[in-house]
Amino acid sequence: MLDHQPWIEKYRPRTLSEVVGNQPVVERLRALALSGNVPHLLLVGPPGVGKTTVALALARDTLGDALIQQAVLELNASDERGIDVVRNKIKMFCQQHVTLPPGRHKLIILDEADSMTPAAQQALRRIMELYSSTTRFALAANVSSKIIEPIQSRCAVIRFRRLGDEAVRSRLVSVLEEEHVPYEPDGIETIVFTADGDMRQALNNAQATWFGFGVITTEHVLRVCDSPSPARLRRFLELCETQKFEQAVGEIEAIWRSGYAASDLVATLFRVARTQAMITEGGERGRDLRLEFLREIGLTHMRITDGLSSLLQLTALASKLVRCAERIHTAQ
Ligand SMILES: Nc1ncnc2c1ncn2[C@@H]1O[C@H](COP(=O)(O)OP(=O)(O)OP(=O)(O)O)[C@@H](O)[C@H]1O
Ligand SMILES: [Mg+2]
Repeated sequence: MLDHQPWIEKYRPRTLSEVVGNQPVVERLRALALSGNVPHLLLVGPPGVGKTTVALALARDTLGDALIQQAVLELNASDERGIDVVRNKIKMFCQQHVTLPPGRHKLIILDEADSMTPAAQQALRRIMELYSSTTRFALAANVSSKIIEPIQSRCAVIRFRRLGDEAVRSRLVSVLEEEHVPYEPDGIETIVFTADGDMRQALNNAQATWFGFGVITTEHVLRVCDSPSPARLRRFLELCETQKFEQAVGEIEAIWRSGYAASDLVATLFRVARTQAMITEGGERGRDLRLEFLREIGLTHMRITDGLSSLLQLTALASKLVRCAERIHTAQ
């Protein structure tokens, strides 16, 4: 049974030192944790980068395992967090006396705080101020605009970014080694690419691939994620780059016909063009071509999300990319 534990929980870092990526931010929090004087915090950033993890690790680092039970209150989106909860549960916790080492505070973790109603947030303002000598808040949210201004102004706002590929890769490999999962280096790269800086997604995709196929290879990962093959999209770009229009159209049509949503396809294409080396590597020409490609792919993405016929747009994209390549080659 234990074997079926989700890796995202099994390998959730317990202390700040295990958290990968976002180094300046994590360093800052570690310094705060050491001093014990943690201000109210608002942790903001995209999903799966460690906001909840950091809030929990911070609690453990500042208070220690023994005190966590009494001195930390954690509320997430699965708990009711309307105005009544703020008035009762949160306020009551603030008023409770807990003996702590000097300079330490109780901590209330409000996870997914952007789903709290504005009224509940308003009720929080006063409480945050009133009890700040004994109780600190750590709020986590995906977008700061859903947190009312007065709360933002009471908090140190800590911004998380998507994790770098190297951070995702190293953490992922250490989990796979720990679990004795066989993998191919290409399979790892495919997970890293599809996760796009989301550690939760990387671990979940790796675990699903392991369950389904028993080994991590590119092909298996793509089956699990149901995402178009970066290698094929790269091939499409290469065909455009070398001005083989007919073949390029054939390639993109074939990918489209294997059943991917055009918007996913174009979004992945954009990332392939952005991150992978083009044939015309380096130099001004390579750079110009990449920028032109990204511009055209971006415009196509916009048209497709506007609802325009996708196959037609994809064919048109092929012709535009071939044109870009021609223009830049002849400008030489
Ligand atoms: N920076 C990180 N270092 C190591 N593991 C991480 C990191 N970020 C995420 N993880 C892994 O992904 C899981 C989910 O991360 P977490 O719950 O902290 O994400 P989150 O930023 O709170 O996302 P959401 O906005 O969706 O709530 C963790 O349990 C952990 O296994
Ligand atoms: Mg979270």
